[in-house]
Amino acid sequence: MPRRTAGAFPLLVTLDTDADVPLTQQLYEGVRKLILNGHALAGIRLPSTRVLSAELRVSRNTVVNAFERLAAEGYIEAKAGGGTRVSRTLPDTMAHAAVAARRQPAGPVTRRPSHRGAAIAGIRTRRWSDRLGEVRPFRLGVGALSEFPVKTWARLSRRRLAHIGAANIDYDEIAGYTPLRQAIAAYLRSARGVVCDPSQVIIVNGSQQALDLASRVLLDPDDAVWFENPGYDGARGAFLAAGARLVHVPVDDHGLDVVAGIERAPAARLAYVTPSHQFPLGVTMTLARRRELLQWAARSGAWIFEDDYDSEFRYTHRPLPAMQGLDTNDCVIYSGSFSKVLFPALRLGYLVVPSTILDTFLRVRFLTDVHPSTMTQAVLADFIAEGHFERHLRRMRLLYAERQDALVRSARHHLAGLLTVEPSEGGMHLVGHLPAGVDDREASRAARANGIVVAPLSFFSEGRQHRNALLLGYAGLTAGQIAAGTKRLATTLRPLAPRANGTHR
Ligand SMILES: Cc1ncc(COP(=O)(O)O)c(C=O)c1O
Repeated sequence: MPRRTAGAFPLLVTLDTDADVPLTQQLYEGVRKLILNGHALAGIRLPSTRVLSAELRVSRNTVVNAFERLAAEGYIEAKAGGGTRVSRTLPDTMAHAAVAARRQPAGPVTRRPSHRGAAIAGIRTRRWSDRLGEVRPFRLGVGALSEFPVKTWARLSRRRLAHIGAANIDYDEIAGYTPLRQAIAAYLRSARGVVCDPSQVIIVNGSQQALDLASRVLLDPDDAVWFENPGYDGARGAFLAAGARLVHVPVDDHGLDVVAGIERAPAARLAYVTPSHQFPLGVTMTLARRRELLQWAARSGAWIFEDDYDSEFRYTHRPLPAMQGLDTNDCVIYSGSFSKVLFPALRLGYLVVPSTILDTFLRVRFLTDVHPSTMTQAVLADFIAEGHFERHLRRMRLLYAERQDALVRSARHHLAGLLTVEPSEGGMHLVGHLPAGVDDREASRAARANGIVVAPLSFFSEGRQHRNALLLGYAGLTAGQIAAGTKRLATTLRPLAPRANGTHR
């Protein structure tokens, strides 16, 4: 195999040795066409004349002559220190005109996505920009990323890479990297009261994939799914994408209202719940409600999807086991994520699946994306095994509790009469109630224009019962940012309040 010039891709040129056209001319025209139609982009490196002559099985002179002509006409340029590149100064119009011409539809044929694809793409989700980049007050769902021990993570990654060998780069278990599954099972048993064996743990690319996978395995189109109202938009989207029919079940101070669920859809196929810390209201589902829900599932044959997305962050001294630990009927699919407790770009989470349905999950998983990157899973396994996970979690628990306090105090000071922000036993955001009559979407829009991100509760709600509250993420913000954010929010909300009072008097 000839060695290729570093960084040069092969060129898609074919030469016809039987043609009347000289080979140099054919090569010149072939490369020129690649440049003009945009296949060989400005600035990319071309293979050396030696490599190209070997690949095309022509004399080196043929290639040298073709390259000389291309260089003379400004298509390519020789670089000091060797190598030839497509000219960066190629007039754009030349290349773009050729590309545009090629993109013209050839005839009356139109191509479109499937109805399913178009329907999924049309599902309402949060604005992506709310999730990216700097942490603006009061962006939802991100932790204190600047506090994450990135140096430790980098060190563990380097160590893994230094010892990489053929044994680590083959396909792995579909369920995920075994030492990571063992570590997660041990953690869940001890910290969350989850009853599981490592074989039941499936590593996924975050909760979103857990929801997608569970929907594929458990739901048929038009199956009814009990969905918390208000509820998590990511789960809503995953169930709708699977063609499920959402049955909105109200959430009160005890959690999901199971009696209301039974009234609305007694034969629902699945119930989606966030019992530890309901998203977005933050209530904890009582033991009585958990039992009611499990009894209904046992009677009706339904599944329960327990999304335990941020239960690590509880600030009271009352530990709260997961509902999965109460399940005696193998009906709970338990899911957790490292997005909150470590960082969201990690894209790792897990499912704990009853052994009765495990094989189906794994077979479906194989046809979805096989398994997440083994290297990343291995680094995470080391991070947990060496105690960094626990240490980070302990630090963040203290920090977020302080930050929640800071938000509550700051809100009492700056937002009195404008937004009532109550503390919560856990989580990374608080709910702020607007005065009656103030529309949360209008308040959210006004805040956005003022540089503040506050999600309106109604975005997560069906119907009008949860119309006037704002969600305030605080975990990623320093006390200073929280204070500045609440002051700024006050200036946004003040003009809206009198109007509302007027309407209601
Ligand atoms: C209720 C709920 N579940 C799960 C997640 C985490 O999703 P993922 O693991 O896909 O990042 C979030 C993030 O906002 C959430 O709010």
